[in-house]
Amino acid sequence: MWVLLALLVLFCAVIARFATGPKGPTRLPPGPPRVPIIGSIPFVPREFRIKGRGLHTPKLFHYLARKYGPVCHIWLGPVPTIVISDAKILREAFKSNNMSSRPIMKPFHEFRYGSQDGTQRGLVLSSGKEWEDQRKFTIKQLKGLGLARKSMESMILYEIGQLADLLTEELDEPIDLCFKTNLSVVNALWMILVGERLSLDDQRLIRIVQSIENVLKSAQVASLLALLLPNVFKMISPRFERAKVMFEECKSLMRTAINAHIASRDDNNSDFIHVYLNEIDQHDLESSSFCGEKGLQSLEIVLIDLFIGGSETTSTSINWTILYLLHNPEVQDKIHAELDRVVGRSRDDPPNLCHNLELDYMNAVIAESMRKSTVVSSGVPHHVDEDTWIGDYFFPRGTSVMANLTYIHHDPQLWENPEEFNPDRFLGPSGHFVASPNVMPFSVGKRFCLGKELAEQEFYLFLSGLLHRFRFENPPDQDLPNISFCHDDVNTGFLRYPPSYNVILRPRF
Ligand code: HEM
Repeated sequence: MWVLLALLVLFCAVIARFATGPKGPTRLPPGPPRVPIIGSIPFVPREFRIKGRGLHTPKLFHYLARKYGPVCHIWLGPVPTIVISDAKILREAFKSNNMSSRPIMKPFHEFRYGSQDGTQRGLVLSSGKEWEDQRKFTIKQLKGLGLARKSMESMILYEIGQLADLLTEELDEPIDLCFKTNLSVVNALWMILVGERLSLDDQRLIRIVQSIENVLKSAQVASLLALLLPNVFKMISPRFERAKVMFEECKSLMRTAINAHIASRDDNNSDFIHVYLNEIDQHDLESSSFCGEKGLQSLEIVLIDLFIGGSETTSTSINWTILYLLHNPEVQDKIHAELDRVVGRSRDDPPNLCHNLELDYMNAVIAESMRKSTVVSSGVPHHVDEDTWIGDYFFPRGTSVMANLTYIHHDPQLWENPEEFNPDRFLGPSGHFVASPNVMPFSVGKRFCLGKELAEQEFYLFLSGLLHRFRFENPPDQDLPNISFCHDDVNTGFLRYPPSYNVILRPRF
């Protein structure tokens, strides 16, 4: 009886919300039809829905691009969402100030010290002046702390050496590399941001990695009810409570590191937390997101954003590349020949950033791998603040905009045989690496990935360092997992993971 009554109240609330809520923009680009409340979901073909796990977004967006063209729309529940599948239009659109904020994501904004209006702290999901200030400061500091400084490069090389030594204990037997590479990438970031190196078997490091992984997974709990009635969702959904617990665990890890810095302020320290605390000291205007307690909240969420943005993205990119090499052993042979020629064969002299300028083939492999894998397949949603024209396309105020990066990276008009893994497409006539503006795994425009430079350098150092020491082989009894675009169903969320696989490592010297 009470359940029925509760359901009736819920139903009435949904109808009332829909009846009184905004009807939505009228001039949307082409797209599937929709019905009230649940939007276009009933018109999404069955093959793009995965039982219990929502929509297979990369596959669905591919289908939309083919059926409705380079700029189209779909109603994801009550949210009109424009999908851009053309490289040139995307570059223009994301350059616009009118499209550089994020949609409001209630009730999840509460995890990030959000205000009543749904705006929130940090980098990834903040908007307006708060986002501009935090982004500008973080970019400046990452440049100062990052690989531009020789000492930081040697610390990362040390980290890669530790990973290689750990892997040496497991030579000649099938292993799953994913968790170990992730541990090492997070440890490198921890060193840059927190100024502390942990050993790879330290339980704290394992807890940090697991907690970041959990937060990433919990980012996928959004549901129709959360979009329609955030407060009801918050009250009745056990998934909201679970996501909150995971986020709190991550916040508490960051807060512990911040408190340790506060307890022993040391001017010889130059890690990210230290420079951020110095910045907080200089702000007393209450409206500033760096001021006082608000500043400490911002620091906590900025750290989480940097760890979430910079850990699984980088390690997943490395794991995709190794899988491509298992499928294409001749590419690995060419990489080894180039490494032997440019770097040599000494453990004490691994590939560094100077070698990068001469490793044309390695750079081509990285570009091809970034294109094929597109680990952040549809970017992060942008929000249109004002009606905007981009060329012939109209973007109405209030819509969300998604970048169809996987489609752009497989667009037959841009790439010959897009399904093929072929690094040679990035080599010019004289064999030199030629970058393409159409490879955009970090997105483009005002909000492109702020860790791009760090990610590119880390990716190069990790990959070339591991390939310098080892040859990767497919275990004799393993059928290689299918890597054709969106073949598997694991990729419904924010990141595109490779199917799981084992690899055998053989020492090279
Ligand atoms: C292979 C590695 C990486 C890939 C493919 C990647 C990709 C992306 C993409 C597609 C976006 C969304 C951009 C948009 O909204 O249009 C993004 C945002 C972001 N990334 Fe990355 N990323 C990587 C590594 C990193 C690293 C190493 C860091 C930091 C240490 C980082 C931090 C961030 C942050 C903070 C944002 C939000 C930027 C904003 O909203 O202004 N990412 N990334």
